[in-house]
Amino acid sequence: MNLDAQHPLASGLTADARLIRAYQGTRPEVTPIWFMRQAGRSLPEYRSLRVGTRMLDACLDPEMASEITLQPVRRHNVDAGILFSDIVIPLKLVGVDVEIVAGMGPVLGKAVRTAKDVAELTRLDPAVLDTSLTPIRQAVARTVAELGSTPLIGFAGAPFTLAAYLVEGGPSKDHINARTLMHADPEAWAALMAWTAEVTGRFLRAQVLAGASAAQLFDSWAGALSLDDYTRYVAPASAAAIAHVRDLTYAEGGTPATDADQAIEETATRRNVPVVHFGVGTGELLKEMHGVGADVVGVDYRVPLDEANRRLGGVVPVQGNIDPALLAAPWPVLEVHVLDVLERGRTAPAHVLNLGHGVPPLTDPNVLTRLVSFVHEIGASAPVAS
Ligand code: CP3
Repeated sequence: MNLDAQHPLASGLTADARLIRAYQGTRPEVTPIWFMRQAGRSLPEYRSLRVGTRMLDACLDPEMASEITLQPVRRHNVDAGILFSDIVIPLKLVGVDVEIVAGMGPVLGKAVRTAKDVAELTRLDPAVLDTSLTPIRQAVARTVAELGSTPLIGFAGAPFTLAAYLVEGGPSKDHINARTLMHADPEAWAALMAWTAEVTGRFLRAQVLAGASAAQLFDSWAGALSLDDYTRYVAPASAAAIAHVRDLTYAEGGTPATDADQAIEETATRRNVPVVHFGVGTGELLKEMHGVGADVVGVDYRVPLDEANRRLGGVVPVQGNIDPALLAAPWPVLEVHVLDVLERGRTAPAHVLNLGHGVPPLTDPNVLTRLVSFVHEIGASAPVAS
């Protein structure tokens, strides 16, 4: 399906942005940079705005969600905004009893442990999202109107990471109940994953249609899985989730304003909306995570980017992978690490600089601002290693 002519990619507003070009596999002059969890507790302006509002209520208030999304873009001059929201928002909107407990994460009213629990959950109709996602569409529309040529990234949780919360009932270290269920009752597991893929896929698609220029699927906890379990019990659902945005395309060079331009469009390249797939501890799964329909693979800090690129066959743009722990180290230590990440990232077709996981809440935001200007000043083609 064609994106609307007013969409920032279709109108050309964000189509030439460094981030989008890198996601499409070309190397811009300057390596684009943004941070997972760039919005949030590391920013004093976030902490003061959030006083008295619960996390999920803030996500569902379009004005507040938009303002929080814009805060790190204004402050750090990053190459993208990422919508302030949460992976459990579509679960909440479809009727699941879920809250976010500060310092802990998503907590469910009831864990989904048996085939009967799965049957009860999957009776909730994903089609209600057509209307209940309205505050998310509004938040995206407000945000892209402010961002101009800076792309907004929409995101969603991958089915396994969401299922891990649903089955455990809350955060967990090893996701043992979820991993038991996939083997003990593969049929119930498949039903749970198919439902979750549809719910999260609709959430992602709504953000892109409303104006997001790229989409990131977070399979944060997929690192708990063996390659075989990932391939058999998880990858098909992740592919189904990504399929919700895979068909969305635009013509490079803008959408025709007149009939005469129409002829030009017919010869122009059609592009899809770039999709990034990221997980933590997923070094063994990188190739399969690409294989489910992603354009770009996000790499955590455990695997160096040259090795990640090798595992991906040298043909996939990568995103990552500064170790978040080094944000609190002295600047010269961080600088050496960032130069090393850039150098290794050069082996890949393209590289978007990011952290290996989210910004730790106690991070000094001035370090992030300094990092962005440092990377922008280097340029992507100049030699960086000393
Ligand atoms: O990156 C951004 O700036 C966009 C915002 C964003 C949030 N959650 C806001 C948030 C994104 C991309 C997410 C995704 C998310 N949510 C993931 C995948 C990414 C990852 O970190 O691996 C996961 C696993 C969740 C579930 C979740 N929600 C967790 C683990 C937590 C943290 C709990 C805590 O307090 O440490 C949340 C809450 C949450 N989501 C916060 C933010 C800013 C903190 C809420 C607060 O301010 O108290």
